[in-house]
Parts: sequence; structure tokens; C-alpha cells
Amino acid sequence: MAEFTILLFLFLAVQFICEGASPTDQDAYPQILEHPQNGYLARDNPATLSCQADGKPKPTITWYHNGRKVKTMDEDPYSQKMLIEGGKLFFLRVIHQKDKSDAGVYYCNATNILGSAISRNATLKIAVLRDDFLHSPVQHKCFHRRQGQVQL
Ligand SMILES: *[C@@H]1O[C@H](CO)[C@@H](O)[C@H](O)[C@H]1NC(C)=O
Ligand SMILES: *[C@@H]1O[C@H](CO)[C@@H](O)[C@H](O)[C@H]1NC(C)=O
Repeated sequence: MAEFTILLFLFLAVQFICEGASPTDQDAYPQILEHPQNGYLARDNPATLSCQADGKPKPTITWYHNGRKVKTMDEDPYSQKMLIEGGKLFFLRVIHQKDKSDAGVYYCNATNILGSAISRNATLKIAVLRDDFLHSPVQHKCFHRRQGQVQL
């Protein structure tokens, strides 16, 4: 009788430990609901890249730019980027300099205890805005208007 009690106790203990460490039935793999889109970034202007993911527990979103993890302002105050609304990447000010540019390929990565889901790649280019044209000696009015309509 005593042996049986001890075995039962061990069985319950093992079961408890296993349940504590592994996902439950209610957990769900991350799933990307909204992918970031290709588009244009206007230098020195704000911009937002979309990413929406579902999963249980709620996945955390990280972003990758040309294969490298994007640093947000909590990690690097100069990055000018932050996560908003649970996963969107917000650029306070798009950077486009000779040595450093926000242009390139982006994807978001939604991760929870079960695993990760990766979004499609979005390619972002730098939009040429009217201001840049004003410094150019040649003026193309028609082209100006078209370029001015470029939206993010
Ligand atoms: C997305 O782009 C990265 C390079 O930035 C590349 O390694 C990866 O294979 C691409 N993924 C897809 C799904 O095209
Ligand atoms: C996604 O994020 C997880 C957790 O940080 C990481 O282990 C994994 O390598 C990432 N995958 C990609 C393709 O970025």
C-alpha cells in the first residue's frame, strides 16, 4: 500500500513537472495576419511598417532589416525607430545618408514559446521628393506632381 502511494505520488509529480514545462492545448503557434508591404520611404519623414500576428501566448514582434535585427530606441536612442500598436515598426524620421539608410528589405518575426512565424519580405525604397528636385537645375513640372503623390 505504501509503495503504491509513493508510485502514485511520483506519477503525479512527473505529470505536474511535464505540464508545467510544455505548452497546453490552448497555446497556438504564431501566425502572421498582416504582412509588411513594399513601398517608399520619404527621407526625414515618419513612416510605419505593418505587421500583425496572432498566437497564444501573444507573440512578441521583432523586425529585421537586410537580415539584421532592427534596434528600437530602447536599445539604441539614435535608431529613430520604435514598436507601436503591438508590432508595427514606426520610423520617427527616415534616415537616408551615405553610410546609413533605412532603405532595404524588411520582415517581421512573431515569436512565442511554441515557435516563430516570419512575414513576407517588404522592399522599401527612398522616395525622391519635390525638395530634392528644387535643387536640380532641370525642372520637370509633370514629374514633380507625380513624385509628390508618392505616399507611404
Ligand atoms: C527575405 O530577404 C532575406 C534577405 O534580406 C533573404 O535571406 C530571405 O531569403 C528572404 N525571404 C523570402 C521569403 O524571400
Ligand atoms: C525569429 O526570432 C527568434 C527569437 O528571437 C529567433 O530565434 C529566430 O532565429 C528568428 N528567426 C528569423 C528568421 O529571424
